[in-house]
Amino acid sequence: MEATLDKARAESKPTIVAKPERFTGTLGVIVATLGSAVGLGNIWKFPSLAGANGGAAFLIVYILCTLLIGLPVMISEHLVGRTARAEAVHAYTKLNPIKKIPWWLIGAFGVASAYLIMAFYTEVAGWVIAYVARSLGSSIFTTDPAVTGAAFGNLVSNPWLSLAVQWGVLLFIGLIILQGVAGGIEKTTKRVMPVLLGLLVLVVIRSLTLKGAGEGVKFLFQPDFTKLTGPAILTAMGLAFFKLSIGMGTMTTYGSYYGDDQNIPKNALRVMLGDLSVSILAGLAIFPAVFAYGIEPGIGASLLFITIPTVFASMPFGHVFMVIFFVLAFLAATGAMLSLVEVPTAFLVEQFKFSRKKATVLVVGSLGAVGTLAALSNSVLADVKPFGLTFFDLFDYLSSNVLLPIGGLLIVVFIGWVLGWNLIEKALTNSGKLKNTGVVRAFFFVTRFVTPLLVLIVLLNGFGVFGK
Ligand code: TRP
Repeated sequence: MEATLDKARAESKPTIVAKPERFTGTLGVIVATLGSAVGLGNIWKFPSLAGANGGAAFLIVYILCTLLIGLPVMISEHLVGRTARAEAVHAYTKLNPIKKIPWWLIGAFGVASAYLIMAFYTEVAGWVIAYVARSLGSSIFTTDPAVTGAAFGNLVSNPWLSLAVQWGVLLFIGLIILQGVAGGIEKTTKRVMPVLLGLLVLVVIRSLTLKGAGEGVKFLFQPDFTKLTGPAILTAMGLAFFKLSIGMGTMTTYGSYYGDDQNIPKNALRVMLGDLSVSILAGLAIFPAVFAYGIEPGIGASLLFITIPTVFASMPFGHVFMVIFFVLAFLAATGAMLSLVEVPTAFLVEQFKFSRKKATVLVVGSLGAVGTLAALSNSVLADVKPFGLTFFDLFDYLSSNVLLPIGGLLIVVFIGWVLGWNLIEKALTNSGKLKNTGVVRAFFFVTRFVTPLLVLIVLLNGFGVFGK
């Protein structure tokens, strides 16, 4: 008897059940999610867009979009991810009650968007790294914009350097993703976010204590609505998507790592407010300094790499603050890129049962290939312009103005019109454990009626229906 049992034991292979990936608790959830939201969107996109579109008035519209579009979409995505306990593509399949309609396309769009965004995002992150190195020396420490402009031109027009910085960034992110959700993403963002915030506050203090800083503060907080054109309003809505990492499944995949006890609406609100605060701090780091030296803020995308160095070169202790500034920009980019790489990686693991290692290598490798198109946009491929845009600009445009809004619209329609109130109430009240039915009702109403309408407007703008 004993012997037969032993034999049976020896023959039955132990089934290895992989432990599901999870963030470790409320702090882990919030820091990792905030780490995804905070990124170059706050440091690079928000200030240059606010600068080019009139400052305070743009900020107000952006805040409205974040509240009425961003927050509902984020809650929706967390809800889908946690309820289905699956990454973006499978989550929508699992919850889909009408199998004839391919709601999984939301996730598939998401994986595509992750590639497009990473292609240009890693390049900008690469520039930031190059600027960390440069700011340690003296080559960009000059008040002459012609010199900083030429320095930026040298970087982007050098194909090998562009590829090297991009692949370096991808390798760095890949190594963290290999460590898993709690051990890689959560651990890294928990280290990075406090440092990032501390450094940002230092730069804000420096900027606000400059003579003439008040003009910049006014620019950011005193609205002049005459500057607010139709396209600017629509740009603000697109920025809300990009900023909160919504509309493509990042937040769905992250939601699948949330514990059952997490209060989804409350956490999403905290992340949204945290991200907004970082954008405002970035504005306070940049505009007072820019105005103090009499520079026009309306310079768009070149703000970070051409204007900012001249501003630092003008101020007392500017050299130290320039290093700090580019370091913090890279730290911000890190958590965002982790979340972008996690989406296709989690998909490969779930779809093909690849090991995390194999999936990461495949994703990082293929991102390197797609990213090359963006990296070489200002050199070898400068004249290749599908739809009149370089690959870099095309990827930026396609993701923010087309794919994210389409994804966001589909997500809120899925939540508001397909899933049904019962499932949503159960999911967001944690089966009645949370006493937040009022909040959930308000969420359901906005998600059903308000958000889809607003998102539709962003989309139509993406397709040029309102003209230029
Ligand atoms: N939110 C990040 C930023 O502001 C970028 C980002 C990360 C993102 N993941 C995303 C944007 C998913 C859209 C979708 O820099």
